[in-house]
Amino acid sequence: MRPKVSVIGAGNVGATLTQRLAERDIADLVLVDIVEGLAEGKALDLLEAGPIIGHNSRVVGGTDYALTAGSQVVVITSGLARKPGMSRDDLVRTNAGIVGEVTRAVVAGSPDAVLIMVTNPLDAMVHQALRVSGLPRERVVGMAGVLDTARFRCFVAQELEVAAENVQAHVLGGHGDTMVPLIGMTTVAGVPISRLLGRDRVEAIVARTRDGGAEIVRYLKTGSAFYAPSAATAQMVEAILLDSHVILPCAVELRGEYGLNGVVMGVPAQLHAGGLERVVEMELAPDERLALERSAEAVRQLLTVLG
Ligand code: NAI
Ligand code: 2OP
Repeated sequence: MRPKVSVIGAGNVGATLTQRLAERDIADLVLVDIVEGLAEGKALDLLEAGPIIGHNSRVVGGTDYALTAGSQVVVITSGLARKPGMSRDDLVRTNAGIVGEVTRAVVAGSPDAVLIMVTNPLDAMVHQALRVSGLPRERVVGMAGVLDTARFRCFVAQELEVAAENVQAHVLGGHGDTMVPLIGMTTVAGVPISRLLGRDRVEAIVARTRDGGAEIVRYLKTGSAFYAPSAATAQMVEAILLDSHVILPCAVELRGEYGLNGVVMGVPAQLHAGGLERVVEMELAPDERLALERSAEAVRQLLTVLG
């Protein structure tokens, strides 16, 4: 029997993620949305693409959480997306309510699942899912670092006119204005970025990465990014399903790592079938450590909104 992956929220990120996973042919898929007909229709459409694409994933959709029972992985994308002029933080109260309700519903039917959170503000929503579900931190991880790192790699690659796959980088911290690209560890085919780009250019790329989500919102006007976010989430789902032990930047609750406790932050995380296997501690420069502490403080501030 194939593993079951459920995706909650059949909007831009959820539906595109379901398509990416169906095309990878690695799981049966369930799509759920609160809007009547939306998940059913998109799931059926994706199923009907199977004979053309050549995948055999069973894809079903609906409003009923009974469909999700027995999932190995549940991805939560349900909630409001950012609109122009809206910060991620503006979303916190509304989306905490949605995430709380959805988390209870999925955990009831899939008590052994690993939850991957996508809904914004991401770090606060991982906190919310941990709090509501009572699950161990290993089984509630958030997607943001893979996306932020991909953006940073793209911008470096554009600037240097090299392939993005040659750019190795790590973006840690909260998913917001305080995210922390590790400049000292950014290399292009092994060459440190400091030897290839001046400080001002690196700073401009860091600023563009921090603003990466808002840049897309400014273009789209009625929604936020979903192609890169769904690709990033699919990479995490695959790492868990295939028990790959790959290290990816993920939002997890820290328990003393990086000197931080009880706060959710993006850090390098090794993923396996059980979700988080371990947090990888990198040696940070003093300014990077300070930036990570500031980012943790911003996440804590956001949590005060939730009480
Ligand atoms: P969207 O608006 O296209 O889709 C959201 C879907 O959630 C809608 O179909 C809506 O009907 C559904 N929904 C709302 N309340 C629900 C409930 N109680 N139960 C089930 N479904 C419900 O938005 P999009 O673009 O898919 O983004 C989804 C979320 O992901 C947003 O919060 C967005 O900010 C966030 N996001 C996070 C990223 C990250 O890096 N962590 C990247 C991109 C988006
Ligand atoms: C992004 O970074 C909206 O958080 C989302 O694109």
